[in-house]
Amino acid sequence: MILIKLGGSVVSDKNVPYSFNREVVEAIAEELRGFYPDESFILVHGGGSFGHPNAKEYRIREGLTGDPERKRIGFSKTHQAMLELNGLIVETFLKKGLPAYSVSSSSIFLVEEGGIVYGDVEVLRKLLERGFIPVLFGDSAVALEGGIDILSGDQIAGYLAKMFRPEKVIFLMDVDGIYDKNPKERDARLIEELSGGEIEHLLESPESAGIDVTGGIGNKLREALKIALYSEVYFINGGVRGNLSKAIRGEKVGTRLRL
Ligand code: IPE
Repeated sequence: MILIKLGGSVVSDKNVPYSFNREVVEAIAEELRGFYPDESFILVHGGGSFGHPNAKEYRIREGLTGDPERKRIGFSKTHQAMLELNGLIVETFLKKGLPAYSVSSSSIFLVEEGGIVYGDVEVLRKLLERGFIPVLFGDSAVALEGGIDILSGDQIAGYLAKMFRPEKVIFLMDVDGIYDKNPKERDARLIEELSGGEIEHLLESPESAGIDVTGGIGNKLREALKIALYSEVYFINGGVRGNLSKAIRGEKVGTRLRL
C-alpha cells in the first residue's frame, strides 16, 4: 500500500478562498490510474483555502473557549468546508475511473494536544481489502482536553503509517521538496537525500517554520521522521506531471528521506 498526502496548496490555491485546482487533481488521478489496481492507495488531503480560513476565523485550535456557541458553529463550518473540498477531489477521481471513497477523519479519530489518541481504522482496512481507495482529510476534530481542535493531514498520515506500514508515504507539495532554507530565498538548495540529523537541524532553524494553523513544514518533518521508521518517505512537487509516478516506482525525484 502507498499512502499519499495531497498538500492543501497542491489541491487548492491558498490565496484564493474555496479554489480547487481541478487540473492538478485530474493529473494526479491519471497518474494513479497507471498503478491501480496492482498497487493499493490511501489518500489524505489537506485543508488549503477551504479548511484553514475557517479554522483561523473561529480559532478552532484554541478549543471550546470564549464563545462556545460560536465555536460550535465554526467547528461544523470547518468540517463542512472540508467535506466540500473532499467531494471535489473524490468526484475527480471517480470520473477517472478510480474507486475513491470518502472517509471523514473526524468520525474515526479523537485527538489530544493535536495528535491522534484514538483511531478506528478497521473500516479503512476493509475498504482496502475490497479494492477501494479511501480518501481522508485534515479536519476539525473532537479533542479530549480542549473539546475541539484541528487535526492535520500530516498527523493522519503519521498515524496511518504506524497502523498500516505502507511501502511508501509520499507528500505532495507545491515546491520541489525540502530545501535547506525557505525555498523563496534565492540561494535555497533542494535536499535530495534528507537524513534524520538534517531534519533535526531544519526543525531548529526558524526559517523552516510554516505559517498555517497546523504548523506547516515543521510538523510535516516531525511526522516524516516517525513515518520513516516504517516506510520510504518522499516529498515531491505535486504540480509537476510525472513526479508521482517516479516516486511510486522508487525513482529519484524531490526529496527522499533516509534515516
Ligand atoms: C488542515 O489540514 C485541515 C484544516 C485546516 C481543517 P492540513 O494541515 O493537512 O492542510 P494543508 O495541507 O496544510 O493545507
